[in-house]
Amino acid sequence: MGSMAASDHSSKRITVQTINPNVLEFEYAVRGEIYYLAQKLQEELEAKPGSHPFDEILYCNIGNPHAFGQPPITFFREVLALCDHPRILDMSETKGMFSADSIDRALQILDKIPGRATGAYSHDQGIKGLRDTIASGIEVRDGFPSNPNNIFLTDGAGPAIHTMMHLLISSKKDGILCPIPQYPLYSALIALYGGTLVPYYLDEANGWGLEISEVKKQLETATSEGINVKALVVINPGNPTGQVLTEADQKELVHFCKEECLLLLADEVYQDNVYVAEKQFHSFKKVAQSMGYGENDISLVSFHSVSKGFYGECGKRGGYMEVTGFSPEIREQLSKVSTIYHCANVPGQILTSLIMSPPKVGDESYESFCGEKEAILSSLARRAKTLEEAFNSMEGVSCNRAEGAMYLFPRLRLPDKAIKAAEAAEAAPDAFYVQLLLNATGIVLVPGSGFGQESGTWHFRCTILPPEDKIKAVAARITEFHRGFMDQYR
Ligand SMILES: Cc1ncc(COP(=O)(O)O)c(C=O)c1O
Repeated sequence: MGSMAASDHSSKRITVQTINPNVLEFEYAVRGEIYYLAQKLQEELEAKPGSHPFDEILYCNIGNPHAFGQPPITFFREVLALCDHPRILDMSETKGMFSADSIDRALQILDKIPGRATGAYSHDQGIKGLRDTIASGIEVRDGFPSNPNNIFLTDGAGPAIHTMMHLLISSKKDGILCPIPQYPLYSALIALYGGTLVPYYLDEANGWGLEISEVKKQLETATSEGINVKALVVINPGNPTGQVLTEADQKELVHFCKEECLLLLADEVYQDNVYVAEKQFHSFKKVAQSMGYGENDISLVSFHSVSKGFYGECGKRGGYMEVTGFSPEIREQLSKVSTIYHCANVPGQILTSLIMSPPKVGDESYESFCGEKEAILSSLARRAKTLEEAFNSMEGVSCNRAEGAMYLFPRLRLPDKAIKAAEAAEAAPDAFYVQLLLNATGIVLVPGSGFGQESGTWHFRCTILPPEDKIKAVAARITEFHRGFMDQYR
């Protein structure tokens, strides 16, 4: 009897056959197979220095600036430190150690937090006083009003996007239009919730530009196949493609979403990363409002994060989504979802308020803040250029410039022999290339297949984040590997 019962139980044990099949299906390329191989190589290097032809692993697979030594912005960290340990505010040394505006700001923020307790759960949508600050920051940025009640503070943009996909997708029939190439968080979440990703292809020959005729065509095809397309994702500046949309393209997209009644999901996490003088970031909300569209015309969600920009505070987990054109009933459902986790982490909420309300002219930190910001952004622009030029000088490689964001996405034209070798290794040709490159150089890239690409084309994504004193060496190592690869497979 006893053994029968035991075997009955064991047949109920959780297995890969019994878990949610959507979990098995989804892939997240930026932390995929290549990343695991990199971790294994790193362990081998630590256990046995000199065991590989390189002495460190360079994680160029992910936009994680501080991991490459990018320094935090002093003002932000001072305010965070003071808020998290307010007793410092009462000490006599503090005035000599912290700038006057950091102290003032910390006091203002603490006054907005019930009980001045950063260790307490907050309002589920985020601390009201911080949402007021963020709404004012959005107004300064856009020149149009922002309502703090439309702002939901989150643990980064990822969780906010997760919430929206959860809200939108209930079956395979629910479609989300996404740019291809896209940031794989979207494909992963759509697969996780069992929906359908409806691709619209960006035009590589045209600087990864957006063609509205392509978006229309894809919507029509999906609709004719019985897919109920509910939303359109746009990533601006683009990841992995680095393009910054023109205002004219943005207007076309906004008009299209209005006409087709599509919810516009605007991923604007790279809004502070624009490197070319002739392009500027415009939020989709501003563009919609400048076209005279109000709450009744279009539904729009804008995502922002503390992880990118010149702040790059990926580990702090902070961000917000601003939702407009949602009925009170939907807002209520969104609020309900937010209450499940009580609230976003409070230091992340504070940091989100700081990126939207940095020091102003006349504040003690203003000059040094501008200096730190400018040093990071101009260095990122130079690093992007160095890598872009190196990639364009490689045989069979072409690379659009990074107008914004943190990546380059060069196209590889690989010889037939290389494609056959990849087939024999049961790998996509770009994954094969990236794996050999990692084994030879210790540099971690992400194969284009992880982001989606026109069929028959191959790419990789490389961040522009290695420190400036290493970037030329990184470019040289990739170039040298490429030369050897082409010599072997040409
Ligand atoms: C386009 C885009 N959206 C969202 C995210 C998620 O960022 P986080 O959750 O760190 O805010 C990232 C991260 O790389 C991204 O590149």
